[in-house]
Amino acid sequence: MRRKIIAGNWKMNGTVGETEALIKQLLTATTGSGHAETVVCPPFTSLMIAAKLLKGSHIGLGAQDMSQHAKGAFTGEISAELLLTLGVRFVILGHSERRQYHFETDGLVNLKTRAALAAGLTPIVCVGETLEQRENGHTESVIREQIQGTMSGFGADELRRIVIAYEPVWAIGTGRTATPDQAQEVHRSIRQLLARIDDAASRELPILYGGSVKADNARGLLSQPDIDGALVGGASLKADEFVQIINAA
Ligand code: 13P
Repeated sequence: MRRKIIAGNWKMNGTVGETEALIKQLLTATTGSGHAETVVCPPFTSLMIAAKLLKGSHIGLGAQDMSQHAKGAFTGEISAELLLTLGVRFVILGHSERRQYHFETDGLVNLKTRAALAAGLTPIVCVGETLEQRENGHTESVIREQIQGTMSGFGADELRRIVIAYEPVWAIGTGRTATPDQAQEVHRSIRQLLARIDDAASRELPILYGGSVKADNARGLLSQPDIDGALVGGASLKADEFVQIINAA
């Protein structure tokens, strides 16, 4: 059976004080047993307080991005090692907001994924089509290109340590969720693409859905055979709602 993961991407939200409050609420409201694996990804400035509060708990810690470089003169960047030494275990890579606002390409995401794996972090690699691409019938080819580009050069060993997130751009922050059938169709095609690299590893790799996941639509999405969890934005900032999503998994 594949791991189930519910990850909260807080994006650029959460002062240190807000992080402390939200994490305390999550720790009180969840026990870890019978739940999906839970991960929170606060902004860099809140990782330290989050790491301190989550140490030894059932909730994992992730970052929202990292550099492809190991160290050196890269002003403003954060390396895998800097994250790892804080207690971070996961890192979101290639989020559509990074692709859109910071011009990240599949090639760059591939380099970042390699750097994350080399350091022992679990990358959560994001792919997803825009509304225009979907309406023009290009969803399958866009996803194929993104998977081939981001997974370039990887074999079974790498796939066993990667998590993929399918996040249709048109569903992010819009309140417009993919239907369970729409999401399942893309998740299945992603798994088929990964099976060309290694069939067994493709069946073990968790594929999360992201894009307006809420307490009231989580169950339908998570009941699909190839949807192994969720990458939750807005709803992960409200403890009650995020806990309901965790419980739905
Ligand atoms: P929303 O859940 O706010 O749509 O964001 C999804 C997302 O981008 C998670 O990475």
